[in-house]
Amino acid sequence: MSTVVITGAQWGDEGKGKIVDLLTEDADYIVRYQGGHNAGHTVVIGDEEFILHLIPSGILRPGKKCVIGNGVVIDPHALLTEIDGLREKGIEVKDNLFISGRAHIIMPYHRAIEKESEKQKGSLRIGTTGRGIGPTYADKMARVGIRVVDILDEEILMEKLMINIQEMNYFLERLYGVKGFVLDEVYKEYTGYAARLRDFAGDTSVLLNQALAEGKNILFEGAQGTHLDVDHGTYPYVTSSNATAGGACTGSGVGPTEINKVVGVVKAYTTRVGSGPFPTELKDATGEFLRDKGREYGATTGRPRRCGWFDVLATRYAARVNGFTGMAITKLDVLDDLDEIKICTGYSFEGKIYSEMPSELKVLEGCEPVLESIEGWKVSTSGISKYEELPLNAKKYIERIKDLIGVEVDIISTGFRRDETIILRKIF
Ligand code: IMP
Repeated sequence: MSTVVITGAQWGDEGKGKIVDLLTEDADYIVRYQGGHNAGHTVVIGDEEFILHLIPSGILRPGKKCVIGNGVVIDPHALLTEIDGLREKGIEVKDNLFISGRAHIIMPYHRAIEKESEKQKGSLRIGTTGRGIGPTYADKMARVGIRVVDILDEEILMEKLMINIQEMNYFLERLYGVKGFVLDEVYKEYTGYAARLRDFAGDTSVLLNQALAEGKNILFEGAQGTHLDVDHGTYPYVTSSNATAGGACTGSGVGPTEINKVVGVVKAYTTRVGSGPFPTELKDATGEFLRDKGREYGATTGRPRRCGWFDVLATRYAARVNGFTGMAITKLDVLDDLDEIKICTGYSFEGKIYSEMPSELKVLEGCEPVLESIEGWKVSTSGISKYEELPLNAKKYIERIKDLIGVEVDIISTGFRRDETIILRKIF
């Protein structure tokens, strides 16, 4: 039996989809524990590309059981569309998908409130994915959220909607001056979803703990990344959940003593979508080169990702707050053509050098990265699957990252496909 948590070490989009897909081969259960359909995992199988937002990518492999844990927020329309899309492509979604009855539901008023509030914030907007994620978690914390079990019970759904819609309409109509929602319409829409979701819903904590008792392998896949975590990220420019490894326990109902490994997915450079500080951002031709070569466009919103050099402070911080037992370094091949590659080892701000990630936004926004330079390798590493075959300078780059972060490297990815991977240490 083994349990492994996969988390992003940067601002999301580290290439977790491919690593999760790879490790899924040895897992019996694959669990999403936080976030919602703001995430987008791209998995390439043969010539076919799948983009999954809510359902763990394990669904693509026959015989695997996929769980959407209590820490996830679910937009039923998005989930059912994803299920239908998979079925159209011949992928079975039946008794291989389990949804926690305790997961919270994204309602249409959550999306509307988020849209208006982002508009109102102007230049201070978070740059969210517009999926209603923040307001849904806000309602959860305010203890007025609607869970999967609540939409399965028509009486409770009506009771909760009566209170919530009245309050939300007050904000929408009086504060933002837009149209509110009609109770009966929302009720009808969501009871319709409930009819289709009922078969998937249950107590997934019981299911997972039974699986542990039976000695099964469980893979927990984090969405977003450490610096988008609501507690540990670059607050307030974060998502509203715990993307870090601790979230795997609270978001699934499996105790911390059951977790064996935490693998941090680390892109060989850095990207970020949405607003917020990004100390190593490159607003020049090198940034554009990384965006083009790395196909750095959001899997969910299609937005161009901001690109920059590898940031040691951000990644070492991630190693600490997640407790990485190993790293999976992705997209090494994107750096192939560069003459010189830089690594940020410190932040310089008002005459002071920071060697640990600061929490003050003004430092993160105003600092200059302290960069060290590594000579590029200028040959293709694309598709290499043996460490010995990497060019010397690429090995030096990996070694330098390993030393600076202080964590062993488990996996190096050199392309989108499953076989374009170097496995240095077996995870399961
Ligand atoms: P929200 O999660 O839609 O509330 O967005 C909050 C912030 O997290 C924004 O900067 C988004 O761009 C970012 N974000 C949310 N999900 C992802 C993701 O899966 N990858 C990268 N960034 C994300």
